[in-house]
Amino acid sequence: MTILVTGGAGYIGSHTVLELLSANQEVVVIDNLSNSNEESLKRVSSITGKKIHFYRGDLLDKGLVDNIFVKHDIDSVIHFAGLKAVGESNEIPLTYYRNNIAATISVLEIMATHNVKSFVFSSSATVYGDPASVPINESFPTSATNPYGRSKLMIEEVLADLYESDNSWNIACLRYFNPVGAHKSGLIGEDPNGIPNNLMPFISQVAVGKRELLSVYGNDYNTHDGTGVRDYIHVVDLALGHLKALDKLKSNPGRVTYNLGTGCGYSVLEMIKAFEKAANKTIPYRIVERRMGDIAECYAATDLAEEELGWKANLSISDMTNDTWRWQTMNPNGYE
Ligand code: NAD
Ligand code: WQD
Repeated sequence: MTILVTGGAGYIGSHTVLELLSANQEVVVIDNLSNSNEESLKRVSSITGKKIHFYRGDLLDKGLVDNIFVKHDIDSVIHFAGLKAVGESNEIPLTYYRNNIAATISVLEIMATHNVKSFVFSSSATVYGDPASVPINESFPTSATNPYGRSKLMIEEVLADLYESDNSWNIACLRYFNPVGAHKSGLIGEDPNGIPNNLMPFISQVAVGKRELLSVYGNDYNTHDGTGVRDYIHVVDLALGHLKALDKLKSNPGRVTYNLGTGCGYSVLEMIKAFEKAANKTIPYRIVERRMGDIAECYAATDLAEEELGWKANLSISDMTNDTWRWQTMNPNGYE
């Protein structure tokens, strides 16, 4: 039995492929490398000593995807492929809807023709919009304020309708909080194109001297130190959550939705402090205006994933910062 990982060369995908191979699963990856580098997969192969069947191509290429199902005995699909930059999604919404929604529908149609009905979807805590309270549990109301978030929400709805129409599907929507960190080896990690949008890669590029100064987006939020609070989760814990989700789907649960977070919130200033400790450097920063669309506080209720998936995040903030720093110093220019 073989798992098809879409977007498997990307940040979370490559860490998940590594854990799947380590658990002796057969893995096929399709990725168009629009936001990644094949080098990530080469390194995963060399760390694990295992082969990855890699197809460079687009999920919207029906012929290619169909051929993958013909050639390999695919059992389940883990679907990471998608565009993920919130700001960019406001500028090119159609590209986001085509690449995220149309591509998902296309892969689901091909799965159906091959009678493969086990699907793990990368959703996001962004589907909770601005939550009324924290911690956020899976039954909180959902909403979206930008095309990226809307694409995640729409796909969740498409999956719900699909399941209603045919309950022989087994579908897990995993709502990730804020993935950070890197594999312990320092050989794979997050490699953003251009100026990072997210806090952790930005801090780490300041620490390594690639950027001068971090802008902290607002210190007047209703949080303990005024800066935004998020649930940062180590990417290796997150990757392991996908293995648990595959196990869960084997038990024929129908359609399930889980938060993947730690349940702990850290502020921007706390993250800076934690990173300073890991890198043994001062991170210069200045407080600037709030970033449009940001919320004050977001962290997960983790009980459902613990009870039903048997999964819990184990790695700490210092694992996250130490591992990010190791990846950054060993690869100052990412995979290039
Ligand atoms: P990433 O950009 O590193 O990985 C996505 C991969 O998909 C890339 O390798 C890219 O080249 C590939 N891809 C994109 N469109 C494709 C297409 N049409 N055909 C084939 N390949 C395609 O992103 P990531 O951080 O690893 O995120 C993985 C998934 O998790 C995404 O769906 C993202 O929306 C979701 N997610 C990410 C975060 C986060 O903060 N990183 C948080 C919540 C959810
Ligand atoms: C974290 C905190 C910022 C950068 C985003 C997406 C979300 C999900 C994860 C995909 C906030 C502050 C940040 C900086 C800062 N992705 N910050 N200076 O916004 O929680 O979530 O990534 O699904 O959909 O919206 O993550 O890392 O951008 O920000 O002060 O240069 O750091 O204001 O409080 P966010 P982030």
